[in-house]
Amino acid sequence: MSAGLRFTLAITGASGAAFGVATLKRLSANPAVAQVALLLSPTGRRCLLDETGLAPKDLAALPKVSLRDERDLGADISSGSHRQDGMVIVPCSAGALGRIASGVSETLVSRAADVCLKERRPLVLCLRETPLNRIHLENMLRVHDAGAVVMPLTPGFYSGPKTLEDLFDTFATRVLDQLGLSETDGRRWKEGGRP
Ligand SMILES: Cc1cc2nc3c(=O)[nH]c(=O)nc-3n(C[C@H](O)[C@H](O)[C@H](O)COP(=O)(O)O)c2cc1C
Repeated sequence: MSAGLRFTLAITGASGAAFGVATLKRLSANPAVAQVALLLSPTGRRCLLDETGLAPKDLAALPKVSLRDERDLGADISSGSHRQDGMVIVPCSAGALGRIASGVSETLVSRAADVCLKERRPLVLCLRETPLNRIHLENMLRVHDAGAVVMPLTPGFYSGPKTLEDLFDTFATRVLDQLGLSETDGRRWKEGGRP
């Protein structure tokens, strides 16, 4: 794996902002990662504050994390010529999924995701909505067929989590796997049963 990887992480307006925070912390701490561009939709900011008490500036204080203006379509990550190594949206709202599935790139979140698909870079969408209607289901198939990984916010319980943080963190491990950043995690499934 080459040093100095650059990823984008977006938090959109869906429940589960803590999963985004946990994933961001893991990306920030990973030695192979040089930079994480952080995006928050307006409703993503609201969910972050409501559910975690954190403000965007608290996340921007993490090492290697740079907070971007979600309205700035002239940002570096808006262009395929800017080197990026992948993007994760966690949590991903059904609205963000719909915009990406339709190629509607009017915000930096949907444009950066669109760039990942056209450049064949990893794009992981951690959808958070339930129940799912036919439009959601069709949109998941569309983005899957276009190259994205649809990874609903459904953490595993086989590792015997003791705290919510354990759940967030085991899910973050799986997201990093999808970005090609496999980390040692003692909570992975082992032959014969629980880790
Ligand atoms: C407090 C709150 C919680 C929400 N939770 C969800 C959710 O879990 N899943 C979802 O798909 N939309 C949810 N929504 C609706 C989306 O935020 C809304 O459709 C928004 O337009 C999505 O745009 P965004 O992806 O740019 O944030 C929620 C909205 C609010 C205000």
